[in-house]
Amino acid sequence: MESTTRTRSPIVELRGIKKNFGAVQALRGVDLMLNHNEVLGLVGDNAAGKSTLMKVLSGAYIPDDGKIFIEGREVRFSSPMDARREGIEMVYQDYALADNLNVAANVFLGREAVRLKLGPIGVMDHHYMEQETKHLLKRLKINIASVRLKVERLSGGQRQAVAIARATAFDAKVIIMDEPTAALSVAAIEKVLDLIRTLKAGGASIIIISHRLEDIYHVGDRMIVLRHGRKVHDSPIEGDIHEFRERAVAYMVGARDDFREETLA
Ligand SMILES: Nc1ncnc2c1ncn2[C@@H]1O[C@H](COP(=O)(O)OP(=O)(O)OP(=O)(O)O)[C@@H](O)[C@H]1O
Ligand SMILES: [Mg+2]
Repeated sequence: MESTTRTRSPIVELRGIKKNFGAVQALRGVDLMLNHNEVLGLVGDNAAGKSTLMKVLSGAYIPDDGKIFIEGREVRFSSPMDARREGIEMVYQDYALADNLNVAANVFLGREAVRLKLGPIGVMDHHYMEQETKHLLKRLKINIASVRLKVERLSGGQRQAVAIARATAFDAKVIIMDEPTAALSVAAIEKVLDLIRTLKAGGASIIIISHRLEDIYHVGDRMIVLRHGRKVHDSPIEGDIHEFRERAVAYMVGARDDFREETLA
């Protein structure tokens, strides 16, 4: 029988991304590929350029150089709205929730469902938003007593879950999470990791930035290591956790570098 596998472009491809902040070369020409339904772990020491690279992919920063391809098509993002239209959503390091609003309002923040549109005045459809949020939380197995709870009353893990749910609410194809497990209890970390597995099972492609190498190991398919604004390693996650950790750390601290030849020549 003929093989039925189609050659499919990666869902995301970044080529030669550069970004400077004044004299700081935050990104010096980074390539990154994300395959369909893959969980990619992005690691590196502080200031390596991880958040900057993902802000380029989510439209928050415009790169100084380099190209972005979504399913093989070149795109240019000048705002997070542009990236959202391509199905790319980012959960920020500080998760940017509105504390004084309830869970449903946070999930719909910035894109509230309007029931009646009377000229410029819309009446928000709270019932619809609450129902949709309930379904979403159920589908993602997120345990929160009521979607009417104000976010300020939630635990850190629940807040992170709401931030992730919000990013996935509108059929995001690519979900980027910046440090989703930082500052969470062990039990809450497990829940966030389960949520990532649920999203993957639902077909999403995911990039996670984390300093917690064990989290990357447990949910990731592949890892990319950045150091000083360059990619120094890109490989599948395999072997036992100790080998994995040693390998990651060797690249993070600069003891190893797979792409050094261009600077050696
Ligand atoms: N908005 C900005 N203005 C000026 N410099 C910035 C800005 N954002 C990032 N930088 C600089 O770019 C470099 C890369 O920062 P980035 O936040 O991408 O690192 P990171 O790998 O996410 O680090 P961390 O693990 O600490 O979050 C750092 O030197 C940082 O100071
Ligand atoms: Mg960061």
